[in-house]
Amino acid sequence: MDLDVSLFDDSRFVRALGPERAERLLDRCDIFFSEHRDHEDLARLCAAFRAAERHTVATLREWMRDTAEPEVRSAYGDVAAEESRHARMWTDRMRALIGEDDVTRRYADPCGMPALAEYFRLWDSYATSGSLPTRLAYLSLVDAWSGMAYSSYLLWADPATRVTLEEILADEVAHVGLAESMIDRLVDEGYDREVLAVDEACIAGLLLEVSDGLLSSGI
Ligand SMILES: [Fe+2]
Ligand SMILES: [Fe+2]
Repeated sequence: MDLDVSLFDDSRFVRALGPERAERLLDRCDIFFSEHRDHEDLARLCAAFRAAERHTVATLREWMRDTAEPEVRSAYGDVAAEESRHARMWTDRMRALIGEDDVTRRYADPCGMPALAEYFRLWDSYATSGSLPTRLAYLSLVDAWSGMAYSSYLLWADPATRVTLEEILADEVAHVGLAESMIDRLVDEGYDREVLAVDEACIAGLLLEVSDGLLSSGI
């Protein structure tokens, strides 16, 4: 089954990336996600998903520390709580696949996938930005990127993993919607919108690098 870029016409990430780069990425996702995985391989993939969720939690909690505006602060807090729940859901799936002892012993650090740390660091630097347009660009694109990865994998995942994926995917779609509604209301026309557009292009490029790293890493 081929992943077609037209499935992702509504994706903010695909729009920011442009159709040609998105199509090349989806071709690679098609090959990667359709690979057969035994329980070990699948647990490793879940750990990679979990690491991305946990990096987002850490970023959002960091932003909450210097955000006084109640609406924005509470939005960061609500999304962080859901990302944290997603990370726990991936841990549960890993436990079901390889057992609790192995998860504790081999995947002790929920943020960690040693081979992948450098890729996540690429966007950590972006996440330390203090400007609201940049943060909302980050939030909307990272979740749109996760949404694209999760919906791609839905086509091939085993039934139990699919239950986890579907639940998390619904939240990621809602998070993008939340970020978009905040952009509409809170980012001023003019200079701030230009900052947002430039940041979205940069973040989409970084996420493409992260994707290339993940897809080449043998997880
Ligand atoms: Fe998430
Ligand atoms: Fe999310």
